[in-house]
Amino acid sequence: MVFEKNYKIQLTDDAFRRADEAPDEKFYAIPRFTSHIDLYAIEAVTEIYRQYIPENTAVLDLMSSLLSHLPEEIHYQRVVGLGMNAREMANNKQLTDSLVHDLNINPILPFGNNDFGAGLICVSIDYLVQPVAVLKEMGRVLKSKSPLIITYSNRFFETKATAAWLSLSDDQRAYLIKSFLTEAGCFEDIELMDRSPKAADPLFAVVARVV
Ligand SMILES: C[S@@+](CC[C@H](N)C(=O)[O-])C[C@H]1O[C@@H](n2cnc3c(N)ncnc32)[C@H](O)[C@@H]1O
Repeated sequence: MVFEKNYKIQLTDDAFRRADEAPDEKFYAIPRFTSHIDLYAIEAVTEIYRQYIPENTAVLDLMSSLLSHLPEEIHYQRVVGLGMNAREMANNKQLTDSLVHDLNINPILPFGNNDFGAGLICVSIDYLVQPVAVLKEMGRVLKSKSPLIITYSNRFFETKATAAWLSLSDDQRAYLIKSFLTEAGCFEDIELMDRSPKAADPLFAVVARVV
């Protein structure tokens, strides 16, 4: 199912405020060896990855943790995780490399131009206080035509999600993400999808390609 509404998202001055404005390092210091969405929603994420990411691609899993949800049967050249907790990523069996990097302190990605062929941001975009700067960086480190796959559900750490995210409905959040991608200025073919399984966590995706 695709989205047919066309919400115009207006951001207020406090759009990127959060209830917990302490450094993210504090919140993520203790590892959470858990999944953040249920099994059926994870399967929906995996199916999108299967559909959009060719084998032997170098993948960047931004805002990574214990699970990357990539299909097991597909071989990737490498899967690099960037997140806040080293132990979570060390236990992620799909990552070939990982690094701790706070995107809310420094949105500049520590990678070269065109280093990757696919980018993932799974159930995490709601925590970014400079999402457009981060997405611009994804446009730089991903090769032209690479897919950037942003997925989200209705579960999140409420105190760490931005005011903009909390103020919107599930549908409207897809348009918020689309507006970030448009403002970043380096994405095309933006698709909005509802891949929610029945009687499980909902699962929405916004997929775009680097120009
Ligand atoms: C809800 S978890 C999702 C983890 C993983 N993507 C998944 O699908 O299970 C949110 C993740 O965002 C990452 N994150 C939160 N704030 C961040 C920041 N300021 N910079 C980088 N990563 C951040 C954390 O490391 C955390 O693992």
